[in-house]
Order: sequence, then C-alpha cells, then structure tokens
Amino acid sequence: MNIIRTKDYQNLSRKAANIISAQVILKPDSVLGLATGSSPVGTYQYLVDWYQKGDVDFSRVTTVNLDEYKGLPREHEQSYFYFMRHHLFRHVNLDPARTFLPDGSEMDSAKACADYDRIISGVGGVDLQLLGLGRNGHIGFNEPDSHFASGTHCVRLTASTIEANQRFFDSPDDVPREAYTMGIGTIMRAKKILVVVSGEDKAEALRAVCQGPVTPSMPGSILQFHPDVTIVADAAALSRM
Ligand code: F6R
Repeated sequence: MNIIRTKDYQNLSRKAANIISAQVILKPDSVLGLATGSSPVGTYQYLVDWYQKGDVDFSRVTTVNLDEYKGLPREHEQSYFYFMRHHLFRHVNLDPARTFLPDGSEMDSAKACADYDRIISGVGGVDLQLLGLGRNGHIGFNEPDSHFASGTHCVRLTASTIEANQRFFDSPDDVPREAYTMGIGTIMRAKKILVVVSGEDKAEALRAVCQGPVTPSMPGSILQFHPDVTIVADAAALSRM
C-alpha cells in the first residue's frame, strides 16, 4: 500500500484529483469507479475546476459508482445519482450515457444487482476505483460481515452507517435501510485503487485496514491484498498509525 500523507483535507483533495486527472490524461477512455460521501467532495471540486480551465477532458471517460440507496429514485435529493450530478456530472463533459450507478428505483434486488454487474463487465471493469472509508471499515456499502461478497448485492445498512449518514437526511428514520453496492470482488478487480480518508474519526479504521488482520469484519482490510492501492490521508486520519 502506498500511503500519501497530507496536512489537511484541502491538500488531500488536490493530491487525489491529481491522481485521477493523471489517469484520464494517460488513458482518456478510462473507466473510473466513483464514490459519494463527504470524503471525495473536495476531489470532485478540483476536477471540475481543472476541467473548466481546460486541463482535463472527460469526454471519453466512463464512470461506475460504488453504490446507491435502495428505494430512492434518481431525482431524490439524497440519492447518490443526485449527489454525483450535483458535485461532478453536470459540471464536466462526461457523456450522461456513460455514467452508471445501481438503479435505486428497482425494488427487485436480484435484478438490480445482476443488471449492474452486467454494466460493469460490459464496460470492461474498472481502471481506477476511488473509495472512501467508513468509520466501521466499510468500503462501498460492504459492511462488516462474516464473509467478503463478490459481486453487486443488496445490503442492510448497519446502525453505525445509518447514524453516520443521517446528517444528510431530515431524521434518522428517513435514512434508507438497504442499499445496492458493488462487491468486494469487483472492487478488488479494479486495476488501481485510490482511497481518500480524512479526519480523526477514521483514524482507528484506517489503522485496522492498513495494519490489522485481513478480515471481513473490517472490509477495507482486503485492500492489503491488492497490488496497486494508494491511500491519500490527512494527518488526523493517520494519527493512529
Ligand atoms: C460512498 C461509499 C461509502 C463512503 C464511506 C465514507 O459511495 O461507498 O463507503 O465512502 O461511508 O463516507 P464519508 O466520506 O461521508 O465519510
């Protein structure tokens, strides 16, 4: 694992955006795996800024997001599609026909997951996967479990994730209880993985992911087995290492 230490969130975001834009410059038809949540927001801001300055061109890029809440249609303000449109898609020249997320409005989980796996294999897999890290060590919505799930699947969110995500909703009761997520197998097949981690509240999870045993009870620990992982983390997130 290659760990890049930055002094704060701003620098972390700039480094992560540098890595993504280098990927797109070197391979303009890259498939980018994208994440939502607070961690990548600054990264997306830099990418939008550099696109607007003419430094990076997304016209041939394909994107596949990690996850989506089950039961939220694209238009819902808390859907991950809405998040991606707000923070990235509508500001850059990505082709909307090549920006993919699991279909949260599909209530048949088996169909939603099979459809998404078909999309991911149809685009040839992921070149660079961007990840955040949950306080409980989750990546995507692969929550602590007794095994590593391979393909896209429907998960019941843990109490800790519902609590962490309630800040985006009017009340905890509004947080969906289930989500569709890319599986660990798909994430691990990405050619490169970039993890952005910020803040003291992630420090213990980051330590366990990098230095603890590889176990499905700490899903991100599987990244120790990936040959090309870069973690960009600020000093607070690295404070237990
Ligand atoms: C988001 C995702 C999650 C988040 C994680 C960290 O698409 O899959 O794994 O990356 O929950 O969230 P933040 O960045 O909000 O702390």
